[in-house]
Parts: sequence; C-alpha cells; structure tokens
Amino acid sequence: MAVADRTRKAVVPSGVERTMAEDELIVSKTDTRGIMTYVNDVFLRVSAYPESEVLGQPHNMIRHPDMPRCVFKLLWDTIKSGQEIFAYVVNLAADGAHYWVFAHVTPSFDTTGRVVAEVPRGWDRQVRDSGWDPRALGLPSGHEAGFAVADRLTAWQDLTAEVNGVLVGLSGHGDLTAAVNALTHPGCHYDGARAYTGAVWHGRVRTWDGCPGGGSVTEAALAPADGSAQTRMYVQMRQTGRASATDRILASVRISS
Ligand SMILES: Cc1cc2nc3c(=O)[nH]c(=O)nc-3n(C[C@H](O)[C@H](O)[C@H](O)COP(=O)(O)O)c2cc1C
Repeated sequence: MAVADRTRKAVVPSGVERTMAEDELIVSKTDTRGIMTYVNDVFLRVSAYPESEVLGQPHNMIRHPDMPRCVFKLLWDTIKSGQEIFAYVVNLAADGAHYWVFAHVTPSFDTTGRVVAEVPRGWDRQVRDSGWDPRALGLPSGHEAGFAVADRLTAWQDLTAEVNGVLVGLSGHGDLTAAVNALTHPGCHYDGARAYTGAVWHGRVRTWDGCPGGGSVTEAALAPADGSAQTRMYVQMRQTGRASATDRILASVRISS
C-alpha cells in the first residue's frame, strides 16, 4: 500500500539557472503567515512543483540558501505595515535549478489596514476596501472599517446572480445580533440560525439558501470570544450552492489595532 510521504526532502542547488520569457509573470498569494493560498501556472512551471505540493505550504519552501534572511524580514515588516515592496529574489526550484524574480509583494485582504479575512481561492477577484456603511443593517449611517471581496462585486446585491464573496465590517454599534436577525432576503429560503463559537469570535450565524440565482446568503454577528466588549463584527457571505465555506471564513477574521 502506498503511503503519502508528507516530509519534504531538502533540495540541493544544482547551479542551473532557469529563465522565463520577458512577458511572463509569476504570481503567488499567501495568507498572513506566509502559507501559499494561490500560485499561477508560471509559478508551477518555473518552480517545478505540482500545485498539490505547493498550496497550503509555507512560501519559504522555494527559499534559496543564498538569500539573506534580512531581506525577508524587511519584506514582512513592510507588508505588515500595509505597504508594498519590490525586491530581487532568487528562488530554488524542486529540481535544484534556481531562478531570479523581481518580486512585487503587496498586502491584500488587510485592505482597510485593520480587518483581515481569508477567502477561498478565486473569490478575491474584485476588492472594495473603502469600508462599509452600517445602514445596511438598519443602524445609523456612518463609515466603518471593512472591505468586500468577491468574484463579481457588481452583482453583490443581486440574489438572482451567482456570486462568491465576503463582506466584513467592524462596528461601533454594540451588539449587532438584533440588527442581523431583522435582515430578510426575499426569494431565498431561510435555513435557520445557529451559534458560532470559534477561537477568536463567537456569535450567531443565519443562513439563507436556494436564492433565485441558486446560491446562499450567510450573515453573522460576531463578538470577541474572550468576552471583551468593544469590538463587533458583521460578516455577510454570498456563496454559490451550499454555504460550505462559512466557518472557515469566520475563523479567519482578524482585526489589528
Ligand atoms: C506574497 C509573498 C511572496 C513571497 N515570495 C517569496 C519568494 O518568491 N521566495 C522566497 O524565498 N520567499 C518569498 N516570500 C517570503 C517567505 O514567506 C519567507 O519569509 C522567506 O522564504 C524566508 O523564510 P523564513 O521567513 O522562514 O526565514 C514571500 C512572501 C510573501 C508574503
């Protein structure tokens, strides 16, 4: 019986340089810990790894031993402060070849500088990072930190359209549960409410499925799991088909001070 080998062997540099065409772009995305969540086809070809061995792994798996550690410290310090950085980086492919990239690293999701969430691959094609207006919940209008990512933001309000995306908003309006309970989505089937308890947040989740476009709408009113009163979070999700990514997304929501 074959047993999957989950340990990675150290790659020995062969000294062979791999180059790519001038118009080719290597794209990779990581979460806030540097775990790769997306890579494009050029990344896979040049690094000589199959996608299955890359996604979910730390980006340092292609780190070349010649790269000074301080470059990456600067890279992380810069993107954590919300800024972009450009750097020449040499990487190590699975077969020992090395390749140079002119890396342009930008933070995403942390778009307001305060709110972060991880969303499934492909949902983040469009980003609106200008905050949100709690009027959407029937609360006094205002401008709060928040962002929306979706594969089609323009169809966000249209329940006849197929959309995958997340809107995350901070709120200074105290407990949002009553406001979220009052929301309705005509044409969708109310699938009920449940408690959500995660390591960082707890709250209430309401799901509407069978919307005219075939998808679902999920709304959550969250408060910090440690009982501290000040922060409240509103999360609205649109998912095609079943609302299967809900808990994973709620667990990833973070705010920075
Ligand atoms: C979007 C993004 C792209 C990155 N690209 C590379 C890369 O191409 N090569 C690399 O060695 N590290 C890259 N890093 C940095 C790694 O996460 C990691 O910090 C680095 O490989 C050094 O490993 P260490 O932090 O464990 O020392 C990238 C980080 C981010 C956030």
